[in-house]
Amino acid sequence: MNQSPIAPHGGTLVDRFIADGERAAAQERSVTLPSLTLSARNLADLRCLASGIYSPLEGFVTEAEYQSILENMRLTSGLAWSIPITLQVTEAQADVIRAGSEVALSTAEGRTVALLKVTDVYRPDQAREAELVYRTTDNAHPGVQAMRAAGPVYLGGPVTVIDELPAEEFPELGMTPRQARQAFAEQGWQTVVAFQTRNPIHRAHEYLTKTALEMVDGLFINPLVGTTKGDDVPAAVRVKCYQVMMEHYYPTERVILGTYPAAMRYAGPREAVLHAISRQNYGCTHFIVGRDHAGVGSYYGSYDAQTIFNDLSAAELQIAILKFEHAFYCKKSNQMATTKTTVSGPEDRVILSGTKVREMLSRGELPPEEFS
Ligand code: ADX
Repeated sequence: MNQSPIAPHGGTLVDRFIADGERAAAQERSVTLPSLTLSARNLADLRCLASGIYSPLEGFVTEAEYQSILENMRLTSGLAWSIPITLQVTEAQADVIRAGSEVALSTAEGRTVALLKVTDVYRPDQAREAELVYRTTDNAHPGVQAMRAAGPVYLGGPVTVIDELPAEEFPELGMTPRQARQAFAEQGWQTVVAFQTRNPIHRAHEYLTKTALEMVDGLFINPLVGTTKGDDVPAAVRVKCYQVMMEHYYPTERVILGTYPAAMRYAGPREAVLHAISRQNYGCTHFIVGRDHAGVGSYYGSYDAQTIFNDLSAAELQIAILKFEHAFYCKKSNQMATTKTTVSGPEDRVILSGTKVREMLSRGELPPEEFS
């Protein structure tokens, strides 16, 4: 662990799993507490908080942290942080919960898996959150919609996992930051580039990852498998695609595939920063941000998710951002390219995107060779 070339964000990898000796007492106490059922999104956040993917956060954000993140894109400590990780409930649920109390957090099956020490109960201005985090108040935006649907009352405070979290969908591919750091160290990698995706890997992705890999020791393909919007390709299908890519298209000694359990927020630029911080916590030294990273519809400019990093000084984020222009298949040179690397005109370009691949597949059409 110590030989890792990059420190976690804020210096320490958070671990919110209870110590063995304290488990039995905590479980006994949990029976007496008011209980909240975690949504799929809450559970995804809990996984990230507990395993240190969201270091230095130790729980759902307090009101002061929430405001600071929204207004300054930083925690109250001054450390960069872009998206508030919130636990939201209805007024009725909030009725029995007071600041200073403890709440049991349960799975949909009713099994308590974590405790929340409630330090804050607050009712923020969700329109302001939408504006600052998502850059839109449009309810059609899936992130804004999910935020509004989750409830108006926010609970803040540290969490502790006291019982096994439900098994991940692909347990063999799940990796905590500690495990990832260990795996990179075992490979002897000093530099590792992380790749975030929520789509099957298409040629543009392959081009980005392989171009990046030319410059570093290893590639960490780290697809997001938490909650996504309904028309995204289901994670189970994507994981099969990733495994085929691993088997036939990437050299195994240079590439590690591990899933990222976070939920997708579609917050474009702000989410790109969260994605980068998370990957620093996994021990990656570089992070790929391409065209319209974590975007949806036409809410964000193609390179907004790259320029947002200009608002952070080099000292604020240790992971280096590798910014890629829009990549396409160039029929003139018969290879992937961007406007930086080709002299072809627009008529020579096959423009590809995950959205297009999804559209073709849902019509029963096979994407052409230039796509994937
Ligand atoms: S995302 O929501 O995870 O960003 P997606 O899986 O489509 O969506 O993208 C993964 C990464 O590849 C992002 O960094 C994105 O910007 C980049 N990307 C996707 N398609 C292209 C493309 N044609 N050209 C350049 N970058 C791309």
